[in-house]
Amino acid sequence: MEVIILPNQQKAAYLVAQILAKELKAHPRLVLGMATGRTMEPVYRLLVDMHQKEGLDFSLCSTFNLDEYIGIPADHPCSYRHYMNELLFDRVNIAKANTHLPDGMASDLGAECLRYEAAITQAGGIDLQLVGIGSDGHIGFNEPLSSLRSRTREKALTPATREQNAPMFGGDPANVPRRAITMGVGTILDSRRCLMLVTGKSKATILAKAVEGPISAMVTASALQLHPRCQVVVDEEAASEL
Ligand code: GLP
Repeated sequence: MEVIILPNQQKAAYLVAQILAKELKAHPRLVLGMATGRTMEPVYRLLVDMHQKEGLDFSLCSTFNLDEYIGIPADHPCSYRHYMNELLFDRVNIAKANTHLPDGMASDLGAECLRYEAAITQAGGIDLQLVGIGSDGHIGFNEPLSSLRSRTREKALTPATREQNAPMFGGDPANVPRRAITMGVGTILDSRRCLMLVTGKSKATILAKAVEGPISAMVTASALQLHPRCQVVVDEEAASEL
């Protein structure tokens, strides 16, 4: 695990966007693992900028998002599909058919999880996985006590996570769905390269646990210490407890 500390959020997001753009230029058929959350927003804005100003080409790549809420339709403003369309997919030349998120409205959620894992395998696996971190140390929606070998499955969201994501649902945690489909920790560890972006003072304690603490199912981000090629890009505020 390599930790890269940059002075501020903007510079940290810029490095992540640059790494991603460089990989995409070298490998136009790149399979990208995408993450959502406020932390990733500047990364996607920068990628759109690179597409518009430098012609960064997304036409041959494909994407698999980490997770999606259960029970929220794709066109709902709080769905992760909506987030990705708004911030990236509708603004670059990616083929929509090449963009994948779990279907949180599937009638058979178990079958949907298996289908999603199989689609990743069929695409040849994830070349570059973007990851953020939740306040309880989750990656994707792999809440504390997730198996470190887990695959795509349904997870119940903890009260802490519903609280953290409440601002996107009008401020009330009761409005945040109780369940989500998420890639497993094992699925994330299978990616060939992993980039975790963590910014802001509020993430300092959990980042220190993830990076310097013991590998534990209580902090699923700590499993990234096992990843063969993981870089953690952070700003000084997030790094303040390292
Ligand atoms: C959600 C997502 C995670 C993300 C986390 C952090 O819970 N499922 O993938 O890392 O939010 O969000 P933020 O970047 O808004 O702090």
